[in-house]
Amino acid sequence: MPKTTISVIKADVGSFPGHSRTHPKLLEKAAKMLKEQRGRLLIDSFVTHCGDDLELIMTHTHGVDNEDVHRLAWEVFMECTKIAKSMKLYGAGQDMLSDAFSGNVRGLGPGVAEMEFEERGSDPVLIFMADKTEPGAWNFFLYKIFADPFNTSGLVIDPAMHEGFIFEVHDVIKKRRITFKCPEETYTLLSYIGACSRYVIKYVFRKDGIIAASTSTEKLNLTAGRYVGKDDPVMIVRAQSGLPSVGEVIEPFCTPTIVAGWMRGSHHGPFMPVGVCDANMTRFDGPPRCICLGFQICNGKLIGPADMFDDVAFDRVRARCNELADMIRDQGPFEPHRLSLEEMEYTTLPGIEKQFRDRWEPIGE
Ligand code: F6R
Ligand code: MG
Ligand code: MG
Repeated sequence: MPKTTISVIKADVGSFPGHSRTHPKLLEKAAKMLKEQRGRLLIDSFVTHCGDDLELIMTHTHGVDNEDVHRLAWEVFMECTKIAKSMKLYGAGQDMLSDAFSGNVRGLGPGVAEMEFEERGSDPVLIFMADKTEPGAWNFFLYKIFADPFNTSGLVIDPAMHEGFIFEVHDVIKKRRITFKCPEETYTLLSYIGACSRYVIKYVFRKDGIIAASTSTEKLNLTAGRYVGKDDPVMIVRAQSGLPSVGEVIEPFCTPTIVAGWMRGSHHGPFMPVGVCDANMTRFDGPPRCICLGFQICNGKLIGPADMFDDVAFDRVRARCNELADMIRDQGPFEPHRLSLEEMEYTTLPGIEKQFRDRWEPIGE
């Protein structure tokens, strides 16, 4: 049996109204284009959206970074951009930073999370998709899932997990990577990944080398060199049988974390787990949200999805996120609701500073 690859590739190619949700016509077109490739390039596919981001979930046997799979995703986004433009949807084609495909969508605008693995007897996979935030938003959750015994009881109880996990961390500013073994290097891992805007967990492996998680780390504004919106990351996590259970993987989402993004990619706000029916941005273009679809992988087939956060068990965290949203919104344009000046460099604020540059006068020592 060849190895199975899961590729989750996403882009914002236009939405309505404003940046709130993807239009059904785009979802239909994307689903149709991927379906046509089933039994050819792909084994299976599923299309959904989180806010204004169009999410392509694809399975195949061609490994990660495959040119044909990436080209297919690129063509889907291009065709959907055409539809978005014809309807004058907002931000039509916004994440397509190039007119030409060059072998891989990485660096061209879309976000990518992929993993290749040998299917186990039964392989549950959870796919997380977020809007109005940045890739580092997953750091907290990946730490909790794979390194915190207070979240994941399997780290204590299950001999197959007892040795711990290896985290590959990317420095998205200096474009370099490093790995940390946990639990041995937990404190060092935290010293980096607590700075979510720069250090992003890309992969998690079990100590025997089995891949457990993969995320998208593309930073749109760094790629484009100008403000294009937030990166709105995706993440694939495998569960069960010597990996954290499905319940352990989604448990950390009961904690309301504060992430960067929200309005104009310029504000901190609560990260709210929601069902797909609530994955539409409203209040202050948010609040930042994430969805989670659960599948069983069967010879590359996607059995599912189950809409994991469409559940009363997550009502409490949503209520707490709404309270936090009220509290932080009261601060209006003041930090820490607004991002730090360093992070605001990648927003539209420098345009204001430019206008007033010559009005400043020296005040001496
Ligand atoms: C955030 C986002 C929106 C826009 C905001 C302003 O990622 O996409 O919050 O930044 O709606 O959009 P413009 O400048 O296009 O009017
Ligand atoms: Mg948008
Ligand atoms: Mg978005």
